[in-house]
Amino acid sequence: MTLEPQKRTKFGSKFGVVAAAAGSAVGLGNIWKFPYEAGQHGGAAFLLVYILCVVLLGVPVMLSEFAIGRRAHANVSGAFRKLTGNNHWIGIGLLGVLTAFLILSFYFVVAGWSLEYVAQAVSNNFVGKTPADLSVAFTDFTSDTYRPLFWTAIFVALTAFVLLAGVEKGIERYSKVLMPFLAVILILLSIRSVTMPNGLEGLKFLFKPDFSKITPQVMLSALGQAFFSLSLGMGCMITYGSYMRKQNNLLQTAVQVTVVDTIVAILAGVAIFPAVFSLGINPAEGPQLVFVTLPGVFTHMTGGYLFAILFFLLLAIAAITSTISLQEVITAYISEEFHLSRKKVVAASSLLLMIGAVLSSLSLGPYSSLMINGKPLFEVLDFVTSKLFLPFGGLLIALFIGWFYKADDIRDELSNGGKLKSRFFPIYLFLMRYFVPLAILLIFFNELGLLR
Ligand code: PFF
Repeated sequence: MTLEPQKRTKFGSKFGVVAAAAGSAVGLGNIWKFPYEAGQHGGAAFLLVYILCVVLLGVPVMLSEFAIGRRAHANVSGAFRKLTGNNHWIGIGLLGVLTAFLILSFYFVVAGWSLEYVAQAVSNNFVGKTPADLSVAFTDFTSDTYRPLFWTAIFVALTAFVLLAGVEKGIERYSKVLMPFLAVILILLSIRSVTMPNGLEGLKFLFKPDFSKITPQVMLSALGQAFFSLSLGMGCMITYGSYMRKQNNLLQTAVQVTVVDTIVAILAGVAIFPAVFSLGINPAEGPQLVFVTLPGVFTHMTGGYLFAILFFLLLAIAAITSTISLQEVITAYISEEFHLSRKKVVAASSLLLMIGAVLSSLSLGPYSSLMINGKPLFEVLDFVTSKLFLPFGGLLIALFIGWFYKADDIRDELSNGGKLKSRFFPIYLFLMRYFVPLAILLIFFNELGLLR
């Protein structure tokens, strides 16, 4: 049994709703993952496919998740049971809970790295280092046994703390203030990066597409990145939708969150790629790209010491608003479905997540037994969740909305019971019924080589 609507906590102000959902969306995915994925997959070609995925798949899927959550007022799995009256679709929810667990197992590790880099910035460690030195320092740190785990544990504890403060007081309050601040820092960093020698090369890389670079692999990466960055395909936005109020405008919220998320990703790209070209770093360097490039920028910047501290601090804050939302999926599910107190669920899930994070962090070090198919567990978790589970979850949600759930009910929810205009509805329904499922399937098949 799930809690009655009036007994569940709700987000407060309208701005708070957008801030919480945007806080979930904006995170390591924008600043750490987007630049390295773009760097490995052709820059502007990747960005182009990414934006198409965000607009044509991301917005309608986010809208659907909000509507499912708010209509059911329940956790990700309970929502499908409540809406359909049977258990046939709860698999989407269970897959979502599993995905949240797998994502957090590597996300907590990277979030921990951001804390280490705050500490390094405070001790002025970047000064006088070449990009090669910075790269060696990064690898030394991440492949160390204990140091990354120390920061990961701190991050897991901080997330648990906010989760226990409850939805409205915890999640909303933290998201509201700090996001705009992050944007300002990114803008200042972008200006410095673009004005570095040879910086324009980086802008060309990011914005001048070479269409021949659009391969099946690029499409799958861009699709996965769109879902990851917008927190879609695993019920996170269903869970947040369940805390929204009847008078919130879901379309407006989805558009605002998507715009903010995309701007932050592009800003991160503009802050990073000009410097990558200026400093002679390989754009396809992978997960270390941000951690090597930006310290290089700070050393070329007046006030770089302070900027470095602020940047990594804000990165950690952007990460925590996302870890909160990811762990909330697990917490809401277990506490509602199994009638356990939030306290117990947060404690137990944090412990389990810490174990997952330990394994994925150690897989980057000397523990080769944690390799799967020659790849560290860390990379496998990243790949499996972004490139398979999230798009697959999105596909299932599209099938549910497009073909199973009553269109009139969804229209009723999206228009707040007829109070808002819903002229967009036929386009939305078309996208969910045909475009989203076909696009995801085509990209999957194409990547598997089945279309050649
Ligand atoms: N959107 C987050 C980011 O870009 O860092 C990551 C994320 C959060 C993914 C919540 C999925 C999710 F449900």
